[in-house]
Amino acid sequence: MVRKASKSFMARQLKAPLYDALWAHAKRNVVSFHCPGHKNGRSIDKELKNYTGEEIYKFDVTVFDEVDSLHDPVGPIKKAQELMAQAYGVKYSFFLVNGTSVGNMAMFLAACNPGDSIIISRSSHKSIMAGIIMSGVWPIWIQPKIDQNLDLIFNSTYDQIKDALDRYPETKAVFVTSPTYNGVVTELSKIVGLCHRRGKIVLVDEAHGAHLVFNKCLPESAVTAGADLCVQSTHKVLSAMSQGSVLHFNSNLIDCNRVKKIVSMLQTTSPNYLILASLDLARRQAVLYGEKKFNKVIEAAEEGRLYINKNINSMKCFTRQEMQKLGVDLDVTKLTVNVTKTGLSGYEIESILAKEYNIQLDYADLFNLVAIMGEGSTKSDVEIFINALEDINKKYHGKQKNWILKIPSLATEMVMRPREVFLSGDTKKLGLKKAVGHIAAQTLTPYPPGIPVVIPGERITKEICDYLIDMSSKDIRISGQETEMLKTVKVFTN
Ligand SMILES: Cc1ncc(COP(=O)(O)O)c(C=O)c1O
Repeated sequence: MVRKASKSFMARQLKAPLYDALWAHAKRNVVSFHCPGHKNGRSIDKELKNYTGEEIYKFDVTVFDEVDSLHDPVGPIKKAQELMAQAYGVKYSFFLVNGTSVGNMAMFLAACNPGDSIIISRSSHKSIMAGIIMSGVWPIWIQPKIDQNLDLIFNSTYDQIKDALDRYPETKAVFVTSPTYNGVVTELSKIVGLCHRRGKIVLVDEAHGAHLVFNKCLPESAVTAGADLCVQSTHKVLSAMSQGSVLHFNSNLIDCNRVKKIVSMLQTTSPNYLILASLDLARRQAVLYGEKKFNKVIEAAEEGRLYINKNINSMKCFTRQEMQKLGVDLDVTKLTVNVTKTGLSGYEIESILAKEYNIQLDYADLFNLVAIMGEGSTKSDVEIFINALEDINKKYHGKQKNWILKIPSLATEMVMRPREVFLSGDTKKLGLKKAVGHIAAQTLTPYPPGIPVVIPGERITKEICDYLIDMSSKDIRISGQETEMLKTVKVFTN
């Protein structure tokens, strides 16, 4: 671990109370008159059971004393959450079974009341729109910076947040995403320091950063930087099962009981205990082996990056040094490969990798491939990836693409809160050109760059309409459009 761990710390962290409770329960072979209906795996589909074995389903239980309740934990779940909080050095950790998506929604509801304003980057994950609508806040948008040489979108910087705080001193909270999908980590300590000096709450979407505290060569985590609330997808980089995330509370500005109530309101009353146990074990594994395992992952990623930059002339990976020169940091375990010079798009190469090389990426866009490495990644995975890229570099030659990563000015006027528009039935569809000056009643997000250019409650400008018409004519996918071609936009009828 990054922090020097005491003997008593390590002795406690060796435990996995929730896993142990489930294991003890499975061994009892109880006669089940509780949900779920498969009764300890007995009636699970044969084909699936042949593949997985039957034992695992004995862990798929419901709430009773022996295994505890996620909503009112007093036993093994309470202890497992305490160990999680201890591992990350925070006051309280909440286990989540609907990923960081539900954690993002919870952060909005916990930190803000209807009518509060919150500073937030336009390049945030789509779950934040749900948080904005549910909580009834006024979003103050920060336009993301784009680096045209790297074809890369950045998250909010310290300067941008300071500027927004100066202009909107009434803001209640600041919402930051760090690391981004590409592993770019913003200046969190500086941002947290600034916000706290001004009495503002800091919420961090650290979906891609649950591993950061476990290796000293990785950038600083939001929990170490002092964020009030921070949510991590333990399943993305560490070894929890999909949907397993954690919301960390470390605030003097938010009431922890309010967070507890909200997390409980948003989660199912039938959580999957396998997911919960995997959070308990992922924490133990990361504490015990994170430093070593991530040393290897970092080494493999850095070797891969170096090899690509030296030997594959049509591809390029930006480096940690390059990012640091720009004032941000990089989690090097996310290997972004720029492919614009291959003449193929990132989407095309992603598909070639899947079909011809049996390699599945997490993400690609027009310009880049993003290979996400995790605790289970190996050097040989990276070698297979590099060999495939080298092969593609030789096989496919095309003209360099001249796409420009651009977004129109998003310094638009928020006229209504997104929640009001969402709840209102007073909407109509207008032709794109006629929509100028109207209040948007939907979200429209062209891919790339994946940044919403129309948000409910915002006044639609001519620049945005022209941009959408241009994107649509180029067959760019626009998420949120309700017809084959984007010809109309939903607006509020005022
Ligand atoms: C930045 C960011 N935040 C939140 C999420 C949602 O996380 P989850 O899949 O754990 O719900 C994602 C998912 O990719 C993400 O990239």
